[in-house]
Amino acid sequence: MQQFDVIVLGAGAAGLMCAAQAGQRGLRVAVLEKAEKPGKKILISGGGRCNFTNINAGPGNYLSDNPHFAKSALARYTAQDFVDLVNRHGIAWHEKTLGQLFCDGSAEQIVQMLLDECPDDHVQIICDADVSAVEAVDGSYGVMANGASYRAPNLVIATGGPSIPKMGATGFAYDLARQFRLKVVEPRPALVPLTLGGDDVLFRELSGVSAPVRATAGAGSRKTSFDEAALFTHKGLSGPAILQVSSYWKSNEAISIAFLKQAGPEWLVELKRERPKSALRTILREDLPDRLADALADRLGIDRELGNVSDKELRSAGEKMANWEFLPNGTEGFAKAEVTIGGIATSELSSKTMEARKSPGLYAIGEAVDVTGWLGGYNFQWAWSSGYAAAQAF
Ligand code: FDA
Repeated sequence: MQQFDVIVLGAGAAGLMCAAQAGQRGLRVAVLEKAEKPGKKILISGGGRCNFTNINAGPGNYLSDNPHFAKSALARYTAQDFVDLVNRHGIAWHEKTLGQLFCDGSAEQIVQMLLDECPDDHVQIICDADVSAVEAVDGSYGVMANGASYRAPNLVIATGGPSIPKMGATGFAYDLARQFRLKVVEPRPALVPLTLGGDDVLFRELSGVSAPVRATAGAGSRKTSFDEAALFTHKGLSGPAILQVSSYWKSNEAISIAFLKQAGPEWLVELKRERPKSALRTILREDLPDRLADALADRLGIDRELGNVSDKELRSAGEKMANWEFLPNGTEGFAKAEVTIGGIATSELSSKTMEARKSPGLYAIGEAVDVTGWLGGYNFQWAWSSGYAAAQAF
């Protein structure tokens, strides 16, 4: 049996940050990783350049059953703290848009940085680890993997969520949580393309067309809008605006798209006075890709000069352009989801330390927990912040 101070399950973003911090505090850490190498999701992230944080990251950018849960960890290890770490390692980066920070070079630099942060004499990373049993014994935790036995007073669940199963992602974290009687908020795919059925299926003919829009989803206090690009696909809708609202969307709810900022009830009525000889199609083509403009004009059924269309019809068309409802019939599922919403219930954990209230010494961090960030570096920031928080508590 090998004795450690901390066993971390999963050498992903959260697990590596946690192991590095604990190792630097002088603790002996074993990291058990199922895959053949650490940080595989980091390597594919941000198109290979890793959108490693967002300078605007704050609690308002996260979804959770408890919207306050992420506050403490995010305040104690901030986006600037991670930027300072990246700078100390001489990794060049740039802001792409909306506060999203990417490596100039490659995501490999972030994985290497995290590995370099793990002191060799304190942190042992064991890859290809097939964890077959986890148990609580005499105030500590025992883990069996590949026939070897590991024991530590602290056990960290950092095995992520089930998104992208072809990379080996599973619901292992939830099985472990249930074993220790921790509640799990029903996991569902998030930051995921939406599929269209019914009459909306006709929009699939626009596959490949993209346009900046305002997309809105969610009812009541969940109602949230994003001003980013939407992309029509052969299955439905994708692009950053749609991925963002997918996290707020629930089955049988419509999402709304404003195709033009200036659209509204009076927009076309006013244009009719200014440009009575213009056709709606021509006006839409001025701001939207031609194929999209034509498809929308066809569906609005206005193929005449504005001067020949009644104000009532124009008001209805203007309203529709500001609030075009789509009724998705589903999502492309965990296979295409960038993250998972739901997970180990925050009510079971201390927001300061990530320790399970019912099982002292048991911690959960990163995507395994019911905290999900927006698209744009927020999910890695949660992994860094929650991993750091746990490591201060052992
Ligand atoms: P993560 O998934 O990183 O790590 C979990 C680790 O546990 C894995 O190494 C896994 O192999 C291991 N594991 C699983 N089961 C195990 C078991 N039974 N035993 C031992 N080990 C086990 N976010 C962001 O902020 N910016 C971005 O640019 C991107 N880009 C991006 C692209 C794509 C394609 C995806 C799918 C996701 C992103 N994300 C992202 C999201 C981001 O990757 C995600 O939020 C973090 O990786 C979560 O970190 P964790 O450490 O919690 O899980």
